[in-house]
Amino acid sequence: MKTKWTFFAIALIMALCGCSDGGSPVYRDASAPVEKRVKDLLGRMTLEEKIMQLNQYTLGRNTVENNLGEAVRDIPAGIGSLIYFGDDAVLRNAMQKKAMEESRLGIPILFGHDVIHGYRTIFPIPLAQACSWNPDLVRRGCAAAACEAAACGVDWTFSPMVDVARDPRWGRVMEGYGEDVHTNAVFCEAAVKGYQGDDLSAENTIAACLKHYAGYGASEAGRDYVPTEISDQTLWDTYLPPFEAGVKAGAATLMSAFHNISGTPATANRYILTEVLKEKWGHDGFVVSDWDAVRQLILQGMAEDGKEAAMLAFTAGVEMDMVDDLYTKWLPELIEEGLVDMKQVDDAVSRVLRIKFRLGLFERPYAEELPESSIYLQPSSVGLAERMAVESMVLLKNEGGVLPLENVGRIALIGPLADSKEDMLGNWTARGRAGDVVSIAEGLAAEFAGKARIRVVKGCDFDGDDRSGFADAVSAAANSDVAVLCLGHKGKWSGENCSRSTIEIPSIQEELLAAVKSAGKPVVLAVSAGRPVDLHRIEPLADAIMLIWHPGIRGGNALASLLSGRENPSGKLAMTFPYSTGQIPIYYNRRNSGRRGTQGIYKDIRSTPLYEFGYGLSYTEFEYGELCLTAEDGSGRSCDMVSGENEVMKVPAGGKITAEITVKNTGGRDGYETVHWYICDPYSRITRPVRELKHFEKRMVSSGEEETFIFEIDPLRDLGFVDSAGKRYVDKGTYRIMAGGRVAELEII
Ligand code: GLC
Repeated sequence: MKTKWTFFAIALIMALCGCSDGGSPVYRDASAPVEKRVKDLLGRMTLEEKIMQLNQYTLGRNTVENNLGEAVRDIPAGIGSLIYFGDDAVLRNAMQKKAMEESRLGIPILFGHDVIHGYRTIFPIPLAQACSWNPDLVRRGCAAAACEAAACGVDWTFSPMVDVARDPRWGRVMEGYGEDVHTNAVFCEAAVKGYQGDDLSAENTIAACLKHYAGYGASEAGRDYVPTEISDQTLWDTYLPPFEAGVKAGAATLMSAFHNISGTPATANRYILTEVLKEKWGHDGFVVSDWDAVRQLILQGMAEDGKEAAMLAFTAGVEMDMVDDLYTKWLPELIEEGLVDMKQVDDAVSRVLRIKFRLGLFERPYAEELPESSIYLQPSSVGLAERMAVESMVLLKNEGGVLPLENVGRIALIGPLADSKEDMLGNWTARGRAGDVVSIAEGLAAEFAGKARIRVVKGCDFDGDDRSGFADAVSAAANSDVAVLCLGHKGKWSGENCSRSTIEIPSIQEELLAAVKSAGKPVVLAVSAGRPVDLHRIEPLADAIMLIWHPGIRGGNALASLLSGRENPSGKLAMTFPYSTGQIPIYYNRRNSGRRGTQGIYKDIRSTPLYEFGYGLSYTEFEYGELCLTAEDGSGRSCDMVSGENEVMKVPAGGKITAEITVKNTGGRDGYETVHWYICDPYSRITRPVRELKHFEKRMVSSGEEETFIFEIDPLRDLGFVDSAGKRYVDKGTYRIMAGGRVAELEII
């Protein structure tokens, strides 16, 4: 009996001092529930230790040109997070060792990095990836990037960027998934699942970070960092849904944006950071500010000084301060003065610790130090990058079937991009290296080996006025069967702080094209860019146009496989290509005006884009059959109005509807087809866009075969809308379901 009481007394003492059975503190017990570990550790921390967890500095040589600042030399062992700039885990582990062994409680540091479209194996830019319409491929690509990053000691990526963007003058359109709400939401979920996997504590997973929360893509006139005008209605129906999808997918963190949202900068915007994100969506991870964004509240005219900026950002709901050190400097005084509540500090620290526990950092604080050859550029990752490049390239024109290039013996490969490696990578290239790239020239040489002689001539630079290379280019074209021109924008012309007043391609390149065209041979154009570009003067000069974006390390192989016909292009635009800069903003899901015909259109240029959202050609042809709707209980059926069915099916708001359409490959070659399903609510109290993408599916359709594509419609999810308070609803009335140019109607009763 005495033994039993002794045992009970010891157990009680240990419980009171937060020790697990083995006598070690609960927070060190990997078998204890995360929340118990968080609570135990928080209870042991001093105020200074808590505040240090809410800060992020940098470690290593910072190569991000827009983020250069004085790096903290002697980094304290108790720092919460570091942006890591290293090619291997050695430096990271050394710093982590300092945290684990020199800090009082041994709290591991969280190492972050911008893993945007790959880490060392660089994939096509995200805007290109959206044109693949292949979420599973995007998920796998992000998983491959996570593998490389985690092996180098990165625990956290500042990705995916899911800013809906409709102004290609804004350089950051390259980082997101285009102009459409649903597209960004679907790829956001895919990226989060790719980075985080099913178990965040697994070795090859990293924490995701949804950015830039929220509405950064609305930057006025495409100028970066500038204010936006976003109504609550537009915030809810356009800019928030991708973030909500990412939170639902379990994204560990978010990053607050730089810009001002209708008078309140995002980084001090309590409505989105706390009322929406924490209270409405229940997000239990944390928000990190963008680089120096807390201090920028002063420049934006919201805070008089660093102390006020820290108070505004922290109380709004930004848990971690990226590099401007204002939290370490001012939180103690703000708490002392009662301007910051200690409860909120504890909540913020708990959020950071929670992610560190979920990542398994306490159990596995160090990354294994492996040779580069065993972590980078693995065949599986490189193969994925090439596959993604093949599926993200978009065939915009193919006059007279000039593509694929079959039975050509002489190819003139011309242009500033023909043999460039650096510009194939695009911006935000993490630890990517130009030397890893297969250029277009190398790709074609491999693909057409033994079949065609390839002559490479640069012809001109990306810009400038040096025409001295034109003559060689024209001569090469004249002595070829086909001229392949590789034109466009440099890889670093899009990305952060890369706004351009025009989306044209520099005139020297247009002149080179015209000169080569005069040689009288077929002209194939490969266009590289990180944004939609103005091709309206170029388009008539080219027989075929392939948009390659910035296709990553195997872009040369991918393009060559498409030009040779070994691969059939399947990409479709995830962002409208304006006819010219003057049309911007122009996007598919706009609302109707009250005028028709010639009223409300430009008097000097056309008012339709050069290439619509969703546009992309194949080497084969697809024929769409009837679009039919059936109610789940089989009670009703509506088919597309083309087929003459005018019986409109009536469905209760809680009912389910199955939409289906057949697609037949009537051409001579197998091909992937993406079916985009749109809805339209033609009359509603909150007016709706003329059409809204709500589902898409990409599938192989073999030549001569027919496939049936299905869209299971949930009225609230797929027909409903959201009001300015974020309340989702579904109106009664008529709805149109559209796919492949077919339209079928139903009525919600
Ligand atoms: C940059 C970018 C952000 C990036 C961060 C860290 O300024 O706005 O996207 O993740 O700083 O590099």
